[in-house]
Amino acid sequence: MAKQLATEMAPPFNLVAHYFIAGAFFYMLTSFVLPFYADEIGGYFVSSSLASLSHQYLLGFVMIMIFGAMYQLVPVILEIPLFSKDFAYIQFYMYVVGLSIMTFAFGVDKLLFLLPYGALLVYISMLIFTVNIFLTYRNLQRWSISAKFIFVSNIFLFVSVTLGLIAALNLYYGFLEIDVLQLVHAHIAGVLIGYVLMTVMGVALVLIPMFSLSHGFDEKPIERGFYFVSIGLVLYMVAMIGALGWLATIAEALILISFGLFAYQMWIIFTTRIRKQNDFWAKNMMASFAFFILSIVIFVIASLFGLDQLRMFAGYLFFFGFLAMIIIGHIYKVLPFLVWYQRYSPLVGKQKVPMLNDMVVEKVADWQFWLTFAGTVISAFGILIVNQFLFIAGTLMMAVSAFLVLYNIYYTLTYGKDL
Ligand code: HEM
Repeated sequence: MAKQLATEMAPPFNLVAHYFIAGAFFYMLTSFVLPFYADEIGGYFVSSSLASLSHQYLLGFVMIMIFGAMYQLVPVILEIPLFSKDFAYIQFYMYVVGLSIMTFAFGVDKLLFLLPYGALLVYISMLIFTVNIFLTYRNLQRWSISAKFIFVSNIFLFVSVTLGLIAALNLYYGFLEIDVLQLVHAHIAGVLIGYVLMTVMGVALVLIPMFSLSHGFDEKPIERGFYFVSIGLVLYMVAMIGALGWLATIAEALILISFGLFAYQMWIIFTTRIRKQNDFWAKNMMASFAFFILSIVIFVIASLFGLDQLRMFAGYLFFFGFLAMIIIGHIYKVLPFLVWYQRYSPLVGKQKVPMLNDMVVEKVADWQFWLTFAGTVISAFGILIVNQFLFIAGTLMMAVSAFLVLYNIYYTLTYGKDL
């Protein structure tokens, strides 16, 4: 694994650590503010207060962790060095400042005038990221399926955050002639499916076989899935902007087929794995994929029958079940590896070196897993039956579990620090 995850072309550990630490901090912050949203569980509609929460969680935790991981993984997946490491540091500081301004501006009415500034900073920082990735692709020799996913996901990122920026400027200056919700729906699908999910699909295809020791499996399902999701999403975004209901239905069908193919691909990898041990990583993966399938199936049923509360329940399981667990599970693998590689790889053969699992407190990771799992299920039921008590109880459990994630990150980062 050491050879697969590390390469002389990878950026300094310090860079990736910046992203992971900030991500853990925002995760904790979101977990602490989540119980205060109990009043809003009665129904979902796009609002500035929910936009504050969703951007804090999605950009502050999900995206920042993905950016950090991409800086480590892109050179490994593409087998070429990143175009610029300096760009990555500049992006980080602009992003964190811009995002903090943006979430405050969304959340506090009186601060709305700051939204264009925060949004612009975040937008420019994301442009720096995508330009860095595209310039890295200049020297690419072999287009693996993961390379294709990452490339196309960055195009979607660029297009959909441009729509987000237009919507944000419109919130303050009000210049759009069409209904802004048309843009916002295209924006949400573009960032969530086009960037977050397509990146997860591309990266999962490298990391999951690597950690579960699965080789020589058939990749056709995901190759087909790639075309279904790319074409489906382009059609969906056009349908949203042009308010074309019939096109949206075709697009949704294509996207759903791609999700099915992705789930099937993960199943193939899972059944051909050599490492059967169910450690904290494997538990997180199984739970996250169960939440993925569950949230998609429930979402489809809710949409077919027009059940809004059920749709909100599905969305919540997707955000706080699937996304949180797939990211946290991988932090427990990737972070110890990076620390190990930096501190212990020069000592291999000279003295006893720790195993990766020693660099995470297993008991804490186990407690954290069960607390996140139970907290997510309980708070999600709180949403389903509109019960504020259940929602608050579940989200408080999630807040405690976020603290445990942070503790393990601290433990790993300081492991063997005095060597
Ligand atoms: C430059 C970056 C971005 C800007 C300027 C931006 C701006 C916006 C705006 C203006 C809205 C509509 C809010 C409203 O009408 O009250 C919105 C909604 C939303 N955006 Fe973004 N966005 C950005 C990036 C992202 C990213 C990267 C994601 C996901 C990974 C995301 C996910 C969402 C979601 C889920 C909503 C719906 C919020 C709700 O539930 O009310 N956005 N965004």
